Amino acid sequence: MAEMLNGMKRTHMCGVLGAQHIDEEVVLMGWVQRRRDLGGLIFVDLRDREGLVQIVFDKDVSEEAFNKAEKIRGEFVIAAQGKVKRRESVNSNLKTGEIEIFAEELRILSESEIPPIHIKDEDGAGERLRLKYRYLDLRKPKMQKILRTRSKIASSIREFLDENGFLDLETPVLTKPTPEGARDYLVPSRVNPGKFYALPQSPQIFKQLLMVSGFDKYYQIVKCFRDEDLRADRQPEFTQVDIEMSFVDVEDVIEINEKLIQKLFKDVDGVELSLPFMRMPYKEAMERYGSDKPDLRFGYELKNLNEIVKDCGFGVFANTVKDGNDVKAININGGADKFSKKGMKNLEKFVKTYGAKGLAWMKLTSEGIDSPIAKFLEEEEIKAITDKMEAAAGDMILFIADKPSVVYAALGALRIEIARKLEVIDEGQYKILWVTDFPLFEYDEEDNRYYASHHPFTSPREEDIEIMESNPKEARAKAYDLVINGYEVGGGSIRIHDSNLQHKMFKALGFSEEEAKEKFGFLIDAFKYGTPPHGGVAYGLDRLTMILTGSDNIRDVIAFPKTQEARCLLTDAPSIADESQLEELRIKLLQEESE
Ligand code: AMO
Ligand code: AMP
Repeated sequence: MAEMLNGMKRTHMCGVLGAQHIDEEVVLMGWVQRRRDLGGLIFVDLRDREGLVQIVFDKDVSEEAFNKAEKIRGEFVIAAQGKVKRRESVNSNLKTGEIEIFAEELRILSESEIPPIHIKDEDGAGERLRLKYRYLDLRKPKMQKILRTRSKIASSIREFLDENGFLDLETPVLTKPTPEGARDYLVPSRVNPGKFYALPQSPQIFKQLLMVSGFDKYYQIVKCFRDEDLRADRQPEFTQVDIEMSFVDVEDVIEINEKLIQKLFKDVDGVELSLPFMRMPYKEAMERYGSDKPDLRFGYELKNLNEIVKDCGFGVFANTVKDGNDVKAININGGADKFSKKGMKNLEKFVKTYGAKGLAWMKLTSEGIDSPIAKFLEEEEIKAITDKMEAAAGDMILFIADKPSVVYAALGALRIEIARKLEVIDEGQYKILWVTDFPLFEYDEEDNRYYASHHPFTSPREEDIEIMESNPKEARAKAYDLVINGYEVGGGSIRIHDSNLQHKMFKALGFSEEEAKEKFGFLIDAFKYGTPPHGGVAYGLDRLTMILTGSDNIRDVIAFPKTQEARCLLTDAPSIADESQLEELRIKLLQEESE
């Protein structure tokens, strides 16, 4: 039977003890990492969130404690009282390795069955098993460290925002759909049969209303919900650091946010980021890196070869340019001998997943040019290409000819894929930039209409207001993203605060008056009563934590994450609802879905 504390009080955490505690009487509590029996002595490594410490059970010190210690196994929870002594053989791998505790009393507070996963960092358990037994997985030192860093990140951010006059205000979770472009999670209302709340994709509309209410500066560390296809950096519920400010323009928002990020990285990682951060207009980011979240830790920049190949003998290239599309390439420095025939086939397969039709290549070897397309090209054309690509012996040039969106997507992803494969990324550095001047609209070919790239409340740049309707493709927004090491860590904008401009925006988006009213009528109404110019930003707390802990999987930085299929393996959510519950909600399932 488990013993009780019965007044026993812990004096120290296990992992903090050291030579300074020698000869002190201590009471420790924690989990048994392992037990070793050496005849008359039993050694136990006791673990808590601060680390491990060795406890010695010696018959000569306490026979009762020794006898009890014979029964303990891994993951038992125990309390031990004893004296701190200097260790005979110091363990320099352990923070507490200079000392050990000679136990005088032992209480077994809780027993443990043999756990299905080992409590150590590299235990080899598959992710599904880890997620099913997440409470055990989280006992691992690595997971403890990540979540402690996450907590520190949140408190550093709160400290900065509190000091700078931002108010921590809450916004509703049962609400109306918010316009962030993903699908909503719906919640049926029992008392309003047939009606549904939406969970917020972000607090966007409410934070703007708080500005209308005069709170001036707001923040919230808040759960957001988006029903979208999940990836390594996306979860259906995730956490934003959401910020909004009044009487500001782009420069003001960027300035205070750079200070916030600077303090955060200093507090959590001890690094001194220099300000201001680099800025790059969206257009440049796309042209040079094929991405609006470029990873600047390595080169392999995209170069346009249209001029060189427009009349060349390789039909694919020449025709692509004639059709008004692009031929672009990247130079993989030193890559000529890094990929076998099969490796090259795999690269081609990789770009095809981004819609590319093929991947042409040119290797500059010591024997000359090795390329399946060389036979179609003149000597001068090859020279012009290698010059433009700044390629030298040992390099490999990779080409894609297609419409711009495919070229960007495929080459943008390929440069990252290859940089990872060839391990050219310096993991120890942060490359931070603001991507600015996003397009105001995005054209959707399937729906044959424009959508707001950020959301419909994002302000155009003043000089682009007049082309909103005549040339929407070129209109730029006062929108900015913070990008770190190729991750979009945050994004925001200056909002429209003028009703005429807002009407113009809705019109450009093809909303009828009624549609706009039905969706955002309350916001349009609110703006009639005195609205300050305002703007803000939201960071993905999970992504910031990924960056600051060097994790490449978002599930590792969330205590209880969901799988790619948006399931929680621990609780088995989502689950089937009771017939009676559904009835109460007036919901009837279609036959095939309920089976
Ligand atoms: P945005 O949609 O860019 O902007 O979101 C802000 C940041 O939230 C993070 N993020 C996610 N993190 C994990 N999983 C997801 N599914 C996910 N989706 C987004 C990203 C992103 O940069 N209301 C605006 C902000 C504003 O305009 O102030 C908004 O939500 O790091
Ligand atoms: P082919 O003559 O069709 O065998 O193509 C020769 C090379 O060009 C192969 O390596 C193809 O992968 C490549 N290729 C074909 N189409 C394209 C394209 N649109 N962009 C880049 N490379 C291509």
